[in-house]
Order: sequence, then C-alpha cells, then structure tokens
Amino acid sequence: MLRAPSLRRRLLTILAVPLALAWIGSGALIYVLALHYANVNYDRSLIETARALERMARSDAGGAALSPQVRILMESEADDPTWYSVRSLSHGVLAANRDLPMPPLTPVPGAAPRLDSVAANGQHLRMASLALHDDSSDATIVISVAEGLRERRALAREILIGTLPVVLLLIAIVLILVWVGVTRGLRLLDPLVEQLEQRRARDLDPLDQSRVPSEIRPLTQTIDALLQRLRAQLELQERFIADAAHQLRTPLAGLRLQAERALADPRPDSVREALAHVERLSAGAGRAAGQLLTLARTQAEDQPRFARVDLAPLARDYVAERVPEALALHIDLGYEGRVSGAEVEGDAVMLREALVNLVDNALNHAGEHGTVTVAVAHELRTVIIEVEDSGPGVAEEYWPRLGERFFRPPGARRDGSGLGLAIVRRIAERHGGALAFGHGRDGRGLRVTIRLPAA
Ligand SMILES: Nc1ncnc2c1ncn2[C@@H]1O[C@H](COP(=O)(O)OP(=O)(O)OP(=O)(O)O)[C@@H](O)[C@H]1O
Ligand SMILES: [Mg+2]
Repeated sequence: MLRAPSLRRRLLTILAVPLALAWIGSGALIYVLALHYANVNYDRSLIETARALERMARSDAGGAALSPQVRILMESEADDPTWYSVRSLSHGVLAANRDLPMPPLTPVPGAAPRLDSVAANGQHLRMASLALHDDSSDATIVISVAEGLRERRALAREILIGTLPVVLLLIAIVLILVWVGVTRGLRLLDPLVEQLEQRRARDLDPLDQSRVPSEIRPLTQTIDALLQRLRAQLELQERFIADAAHQLRTPLAGLRLQAERALADPRPDSVREALAHVERLSAGAGRAAGQLLTLARTQAEDQPRFARVDLAPLARDYVAERVPEALALHIDLGYEGRVSGAEVEGDAVMLREALVNLVDNALNHAGEHGTVTVAVAHELRTVIIEVEDSGPGVAEEYWPRLGERFFRPPGARRDGSGLGLAIVRRIAERHGGALAFGHGRDGRGLRVTIRLPAA
C-alpha cells in the first residue's frame, strides 16, 4: 500500500542532508579554530622558552652551554621535544641539541622574538628566535627554540572530538523541535476541521477564512470554490425538481379532469372528445419533460466536450430534414447563406438542439403560407445563425424577457412549455455567444440571431 505523504517526514528528509553537511562543516571549522588557538598558545610558550634561554645565556657569560637541568627539562617532553640552538654569528654553534636552521631573517638584538615555520630533517617545526649582543666576545648570538606540530594537532583533535557530539546533540534537538513544531502547527487546522465537521450537508456557505492559517488559504479557497459550484449545482437541481413538479401538475390535473368527464358522460362522442384532450395534454407533458431535461443538460456544470463544428452544413441538412413537415403546413422553409466554412468550437448536439427549438418556434408561428428562413453567415470573427419567420412576431417590449424560463408573452398560444428560447440562450452562452431578437423581413415576424465566436 502506498504510504500517505507526511509533512513531518517530508520536513525531516528535507532537513537531513543540510544538517549533516552543517555537522561536517562545523567539525572542520572547529578543528581550524582549535588549531589556531593551540598554535597561539604553543607559540607563546615557545617564546617564553626562548626568553628563558636568553636570560640563562646572559648569566652564563658567553652562553657556552646550558645547565644539565635545563637540558633534561627541555628534552624530557616525550611527544614533541623542544630543540634549541645557541649560535654566535662569528663563532658558530655554541650549544645545541639539534641542528636547527637559521631563521629566514636574522633577528636583531633587542628586537621582539620572531616566529617561523621551518623544516628540519623532513619535519615541520615551529621556531622562535631572538638575538642578543655578547659583550665579552662582541658578537651577536642567535638563540632558536623549536618544536614539532604533533602536540598542537593532538590538542585540536581533542577539542574536535569533545565538541562534535555536542553539535550532534544540538542537531537532534532541532529535529525534535521540528517534529514537535509541525505537530503543534497542524493544530491550527483544528478549528477548520471542526467547522467542517459541524456542517450539515446542505450548508455550503463559504468557510470562515479569518481563522485559517495563511499557508493553507489556497486549499480552503479551492474548497470554497468547490462549495460554490456545488451550491450552484444544488440550486439547479432544486429548480429542476420544482419546475418539473410545476410543469407536470397542470397536465396531470387536466388529464384527471378529462377522465372524470369521460366517466361521467359515457357517450362515444364526449369520450372521444375527452380522449383528444388527453392526447394533447399528455403530448404537452411529454414535451415539457423533454425540454426540462434538455435545459438541465445545458445548465450542467461540467465542461462539455467541444470540438470543431461547421454550422453551415449542420443547419442546411437540418432544414432539409424539416422541409416535408413545413410543406405539409404550407410553409416555405428555406436555407440561405454559406455551404460551409462557418466553424465554431462547440458541441454539435447542443448546437443542433438550439436550431431545433428556433425552427420549432418559427414553424409554429409562421402561419399558413408563411415563410421560414434559416441562414448561416461568417463575419470577421463571428458566426451568425439566423432564423426568421413571417408570423405575427413578438412585441418589442417583450424581447428582453424572451429566453427567460417559462416566459411567454401575453396572448401566446397555450401549448408549449416556454423553455425553448431559454435552452437556446443557454446554449449560446455556453459557446461564448449571445442571443438577439429583431423583426423579420418587411417588419413582419420574429428574427432570432445567435452570434458565436468563430473557431
Ligand atoms: N417565432 C416566433 N414568433 C412569435 N412568437 C414566438 C416565436 N418564438 C417564440 N415566440 C413566443 O415566445 C414564447 C416562448 O418561446 P419558447 O420557445 O421559449 O417556448 P415555447 O415555444 O412556448 O415552448 P417550448 O419551445 O418549450 O415547447 C412562445 O410561447 C411564443 O409566444
Ligand atoms: Mg419553442
């Protein structure tokens, strides 16, 4: 099973490498510093030894030799014995326990002792040198004291070994603090969790963002957006249910009335008449249910699958399909405009549904011997679909309301559910277009125009 991602684990793994590097780096730094201070101290005592030798040389009148005690003292140090040499610049070595090189710059009597790093017999040495003037021989005497670096390094190493575990402990404490900090930080989410837990299913109001830590605002804002979409969807469903109930109640009541009438008056003529009503009512209810479903589909939130659709052949073929029906109604139905090249990004099924509703309306209202014209044009970046008829049209004052659900201008025929233009408007909007109304040719009838962005 896949392990769920964990903030704590993530943070610790992110920190692990830098902290390990920091540990190694601090070790190197500590060693360098420790070596530096060890050098300072060891150098200081080297100078002191040189000065002690100087004092002895002075009292020794000529500095020919060191007392045996001093020698033992200097040579007894096992690790890094101290080497010395007392040299007269005119008479050569006066006393030495090792052949030390001359300092790179010959010291001047009375000047401060100098310190040099030198090599002797393949060993690196630190050497303090000073000079004094011997009055008896009238010569300059150079005193050098030197020792190896082993002890200094050993001291630095000890300091390093002593401090590394302390640094490691600090790192461990940091990691523990991170762990604890994340745990405590996540408690900031508790109010949000509580807020959501206490919600009822229908409570889709936005979350209270004021108590949400800023770092997770993007998350809660996304949740809010989702809640908003859910709210819209829920409203849509509620409206659909209310609409459906409303739309079906009237025809059902009518059906019952007709049935009662037929039962009360069983003469074949009246039964026949009642059945004709029943047929009309049930057909209307069926159409209303279909229109409601279509409208609900066009309003659904999820993005429809858009593709390139050429509206010219689509409209032309559809018109051809309905010509026989129009002929039967003595209506001259025709197509004008392009043969092809009116492409939009869209859903062909939906676009055809819009056309169906417009042609339905036009055929319904054109009147006998009327005309209905469907046209598709392509202007700059717009594809235009127009359906116009030669019927009575709709008074201009009602145009703004055409396309509202269930809106029918006063005096309109009672069949029809009043959803057709709402469906058309919704489809136009979903395709980024708009719906407009106008007068037909010679100021007669209604012209419905859909403008869509061309692909
Ligand atoms: N071409 C038209 N000529 C005259 N009036 C029209 C025309 N088209 C629509 N109308 C008026 O607008 C009203 C609303 O039309 P719409 O298509 O939305 O609903 P409907 O045709 O009544 O019902 P449905 O199309 O859902 O079966 C119609 O009832 C009609 O009064
Ligand atoms: Mg209609």
